[in-house]
Amino acid sequence: MVLSEQPPTPAEFIDLRARAGWGRIDEATARRSLQAAAFSVSLRRDDRLVGFARVMGDGVLYFYLADVVIDPEFRGGGHGDALMRAITGYFDRAALPGATITLVAMPGRESFYERFGFVRCPNGPFGDGMHYTRAPAPEPMDSSTVEAR
Ligand SMILES: CC(C)(COP(=O)(O)OP(=O)(O)OC[C@H]1O[C@@H](n2cnc3c(N)ncnc32)[C@H](O)[C@@H]1OP(=O)(O)O)[C@@H](O)C(=O)NCCC(=O)NCCS
Repeated sequence: MVLSEQPPTPAEFIDLRARAGWGRIDEATARRSLQAAAFSVSLRRDDRLVGFARVMGDGVLYFYLADVVIDPEFRGGGHGDALMRAITGYFDRAALPGATITLVAMPGRESFYERFGFVRCPNGPFGDGMHYTRAPAPEPMDSSTVEAR
């Protein structure tokens, strides 16, 4: 496995998302989304993208961990752990005093993130996490590829 701090190509990102059951996005959306990241980490085996994580934000005060995904064929092998070590290393280097570093875990994934220094809200200085309910819903997906995210 080769870990790099390079984003995937749009085509790789589209393919990995689809393999993870997150649905299909178009190339322009993938390109724009990838370019907006403050930090990305990719994991490849034999030039195939098998893992990806990235952080959105300003790179100094505000950070949002947006994606952590391992190809379903490669889960359970310590690769998610490797991605998260790269991500927390980035936080430790880049975040200035008073920085806010957040994520929104999918149900059941909280304990995965607790291994890496995250705590559930409300805790510490924060109240409940919140999200905007009027965001557009995801496109319907092919049910054969859907897995709980
Ligand atoms: C979550 C995910 C990234 C973990 O990757 P992985 O390569 O399977 O994880 P690892 O093999 O590195 O596991 C590292 C540790 O985390 C634990 N872990 C793995 N998945 C977990 C989960 N869903 N919940 C809690 N703990 C988990 C493992 O048991 C392991 O602990 P151990 O070392 O004590 O055995 C992967 O399952 C995935 O891509 N899931 C779908 C996408 C997703 O849910 N992303 C998070 C969205 S919030």
